[in-house]
Amino acid sequence: MAKTQPFDDTILEKIQALQEKYAAMGQDLSSYLDGLLYADYLTYWDYINLDTLLSLQHPITPIPDETIFIIYHQITELYFKLSLHELEQLQGKGSVAGQEILKRVRRVNRYFEALTHSFDIMVDGMDQEQFLKFRMSLLPASGFQSAQYRMIEIRCTSFDRLLKEGAREVHANHQANQLAELFDSIYWKAGAVELASGKKTLTLKQFEAKYDQILLDLAKGAFDTNLRRQWNGLPEAEKNPELREELRWLDVNVNINWPLSHYKSAVRYLQRNPEDIAATGGTNWQKYLPPRFQKRIFYPELWSQEELNEWGKGWVAKEIFGKK
Ligand code: HEM
Repeated sequence: MAKTQPFDDTILEKIQALQEKYAAMGQDLSSYLDGLLYADYLTYWDYINLDTLLSLQHPITPIPDETIFIIYHQITELYFKLSLHELEQLQGKGSVAGQEILKRVRRVNRYFEALTHSFDIMVDGMDQEQFLKFRMSLLPASGFQSAQYRMIEIRCTSFDRLLKEGAREVHANHQANQLAELFDSIYWKAGAVELASGKKTLTLKQFEAKYDQILLDLAKGAFDTNLRRQWNGLPEAEKNPELREELRWLDVNVNINWPLSHYKSAVRYLQRNPEDIAATGGTNWQKYLPPRFQKRIFYPELWSQEELNEWGKGWVAKEIFGKK
């Protein structure tokens, strides 16, 4: 009986290519084909590790709304991770073209817009009574201890821009070997401070113990490659208006819009209650959180004096970009 050819030419070509691939590594194609015979089909739930993902919510109180609080923090950390994923790709290389920066900054902006728009899940989406109950059980943990948030900032701008106000201009021309010394003046060391005594809270001390060295190392690594450096180092022809606007929008998203929507949640849950300040372990959040006090600005060279003066007053986002 004549043997029929079971494969068309394209399949045979692929088998040939696979044979070459495995042979190049001293491997035997036939054994790998055996493996394929027994391999299971991939499922959606295995591919995205769904069971693990859905098993990562562990409320520590019986209060139902605590689950919302945990999941929304986790969602935020995933968006932060996506943002870092883009920034890391930009900063792993030497010089990067303006178009590449534009593409990635646009992505980070999209993530932050999603976060800002969804923050109502926190602001309006939990019962205040429930929040105030479970919040006390979480002390001294705070979103303040989100290291990814600080990593985004370190990758977005030069280190002087992250110092507390007053120290920024003085250190505008700092060198890499000064970073360790400057680290003590980083803005967040003035947050999560005890309102009554001005001393560091346990929240801050724990964060420093776990992350100071990691963040300092990152700052050293990003000294030459942070986004501000990359923008300023571009040839003039590549500093086009589109990229300029995208960077300004990043400044607004990270330093005004997200902090403002976050601040709204602190005000909603903590301000009206007589125990408001106690609820966060007695910190100085009212003075610390509002962007108009902090005036953190990644790219001052991209803003006019008037825009800088109005920073965080709700004016920049609406007037400059026509966005809410
Ligand atoms: C009801 C919701 C929330 C309330 C009431 C709240 C409250 C606060 C307060 C009072 C602070 C100041 C530090 C402190 O005193 O502990 C803070 C800081 C912070 N929180 Fe939240 N927070 C909420 C949701 C979130 C979420 C969902 C995230 C996402 C990760 C987050 C991330 C942060 C960050 C990154 C800081 C530091 C901000 C800075 O240094 O400028 N918070 N939060």
